[in-house]
Amino acid sequence: MTDTNKREIVCSGIRPTGNLHLGNYFGALRNFVKMQDEYDCFFFVADYHSLTTHPTPDNLYQNARQILVQYLAAGLDPERSTIYFQSDLPQTVELYLFFNMNAYLGELERVTSFKDKVRQNPNNVNAGLLTYPTLMAADILIHKATRVPVGKDQEQHLEMTRTYAQRFNSMYGSEVFPLPQAVGSSGNLVKIPALNGSGKMGKSEGEASTIFLTDEPSVIRKKIMKAKSDSGPTEMNQKKPEEIENLFSLLKAVSKPETVEYFDDLYNRCQIRYGDLKKQLAEDMVAFVEPLRQRILEVGSDEEGLRRIIDRGKEKARASADRTIHEVRHVIGYRN
Ligand code: TRP
Repeated sequence: MTDTNKREIVCSGIRPTGNLHLGNYFGALRNFVKMQDEYDCFFFVADYHSLTTHPTPDNLYQNARQILVQYLAAGLDPERSTIYFQSDLPQTVELYLFFNMNAYLGELERVTSFKDKVRQNPNNVNAGLLTYPTLMAADILIHKATRVPVGKDQEQHLEMTRTYAQRFNSMYGSEVFPLPQAVGSSGNLVKIPALNGSGKMGKSEGEASTIFLTDEPSVIRKKIMKAKSDSGPTEMNQKKPEEIENLFSLLKAVSKPETVEYFDDLYNRCQIRYGDLKKQLAEDMVAFVEPLRQRILEVGSDEEGLRRIIDRGKEKARASADRTIHEVRHVIGYRN
């Protein structure tokens, strides 16, 4: 608890579109957990952003709550970090409005994630989708965060966050906002591929190709035994095709280095049996996921504990956001 005001500020969030999977865990959550030691952290559930796809009220709440539960189960600590729902911070929406006044249609239309969404869903090109980057900028800048742990796919959004911060600062001749940087998983980046042989693990590759933190052991075993492989190497030390490389990537994520070496050696000598590899991978995966799943069940069943954490997170996040919005309103010219 020393010098917390000197620490750099970290902020990140995950959109509640379903249960978290192994890709989220290695790509984001594990990194969030580590950052708590060094930074003043704000982690939220992006339950305003999720409205772009029009969830039902029940879906909205259940999904948002489940992300919060999974944050806590993975080790985010409400004592050290500020953990909250984005929708508990209306100050973000006010800042979003201010940024939108200086965000231009052309630049928003050129954003890759927007163009992808338009292509996938031509019937739902709403203004919220278009202004996704200004809301994200508001999420980050409402706390004046300087570091944002996100995946590669969010780098363009971070670049826009800097644009909006810079534009605001120069427009009002002030240094209200810092220019935040995206930070990837430092060093030990583990690639988590889908089980179907191509692409990264995630909802877009389908449920059967994705291991969720809430998957029961029998489900994990079944998914892994069905993972794509091939008929085996035909030459010594042959380069691994993508689907086999993927199985090894998963093994690297959850198994001991000796296990990886053991199968690597068998592969190089053309003696590998993929059934054995998958069985081992399934057991190591279960050993990795099962304690997390148990924690998720435990945290999720403590309604009162969750309520306290939600209230405390809201209070801490609002204190930080109030400071920023007060300053911003003043700089813009509001004197009321
Ligand atoms: N756009 C992010 C994603 O899809 C989620 C997000 C919303 C976010 N607001 C943020 C991430 C602010 C970091 C900071 O993954």
